[in-house]
Amino acid sequence: MSTYSKGLEGVVAAETRMSFIDGEKGVLEYVGIAIDDLARNSNFEETVFLLWNTRLPKKSELEAFRGDLRSRYDLPPSAIDALRHIPKSAQPMHVLRTMVSSLAFLDAHPNANDLPSARDKSLTILARTPTIIAAFDRIRRGLNIVPPRKDLSFSANFLYMLNGEVPTPTMERAFDVCMILHADHGLNNSTFTARVVISTLSDVYSALTAAVGSLRGPLHGGANEEVMEMLGEIPSLDAVEPYVMGKLAKKERIMGFGHRVYKAIDPRATFLKTLAKQLAADTGNQDLYEKSTKIEEIMAREVAAKGIYPNVDFYSATTYHSIGLKLDLFTPMFAMSRIAGWAGHIIEQLDGNRLFRPKAEYVGPHNEKYVPIAER
Ligand code: SDX
Repeated sequence: MSTYSKGLEGVVAAETRMSFIDGEKGVLEYVGIAIDDLARNSNFEETVFLLWNTRLPKKSELEAFRGDLRSRYDLPPSAIDALRHIPKSAQPMHVLRTMVSSLAFLDAHPNANDLPSARDKSLTILARTPTIIAAFDRIRRGLNIVPPRKDLSFSANFLYMLNGEVPTPTMERAFDVCMILHADHGLNNSTFTARVVISTLSDVYSALTAAVGSLRGPLHGGANEEVMEMLGEIPSLDAVEPYVMGKLAKKERIMGFGHRVYKAIDPRATFLKTLAKQLAADTGNQDLYEKSTKIEEIMAREVAAKGIYPNVDFYSATTYHSIGLKLDLFTPMFAMSRIAGWAGHIIEQLDGNRLFRPKAEYVGPHNEKYVPIAER
């Protein structure tokens, strides 16, 4: 008799060689390397190679991978035209979901899901996602689209296309560390979604489109935008305590806290806290950082005993705001990075696939008679 676990809590539904999480100890590793080590020493392009090849690249391999990724930044005119027909008021995550799906129209063999094809499509989609997000933001602001520059890294190129100027090394590095930190995280909801879709031998575009849809949810990737809204709602440092206590009293969630797996602080939050502190100081956003640490202090006092700690979304809000990103681009940033993890899991799923088909426990009636409508 199989047991029912609501939300599949605690259920192992896949094996992976990419990220390892110890929720009790607050440990995250990508292919055995501690996330802190990668955030300090690696870069996003190298991290993608690591996740997709389950090893670090040699210098020549990284250069070849970088060249291939950067050669795919461009969006064809038909995709730019499609972006121009999207209402300027559209939410960027809806735009991203739609445009990732539409990239299938530009592919002569959109359904090919042999491993080389899946990898090739994933690299193109990963490369074009920043271009989609930046181009839409420029269009909705009434600005000229800034074409990508292949001499710039994934992170520098995104900030260049968004702002029309090459970012400072500090801003490029800060953004790139955020990309490293968000790249993969076990079988989170959006990754599971991607694996479920590809397990029918559907296509990479369908699986990634579904994953973008999942990530938008406020219980998942959408939390970083909710954190920023919360920080904006709290007028001063003194107002933090009554705000948090009021929410908790009403059993409402403080966004950016809690996690299905971590019962200690999310190691990504620890790293992002340091980054947020530095960036907030450099950009005059200390009030956001101070409000955040005050919230963390109160939540530690009130709910740490329940294993509720900051997660990746809590300090990424101050970090992204300090980098100069608009609030409704925060979750698209999460998606831009997580495409690397989603694609890695799609490839893992295809390599030894088994269709996902769990059971539902029927709890309704039996032996009911059909009643003609005239008698109801
Ligand atoms: C991400 O899975 C991943 O790995 C996701 C992610 C990734 O990298 O892909 O790490 C990214 O999505 C991080 C999570 C972002 N979401 C939020 O910050 C939204 C707020 N957090 C919560 O909604 C919640 O913590 C979840 C959804 C993240 C986890 O929820 P669970 O495991 O289903 O926990 P639960 O709802 O069963 O809560 C357990 C208890 C409850 O109290 P009791 O009813 O037992 O008294 O903890 C409380 C909850 O009320 N609780 C919170 C809380 N989160 C849980 N109380 C206040 N504030 C919170 N944020």
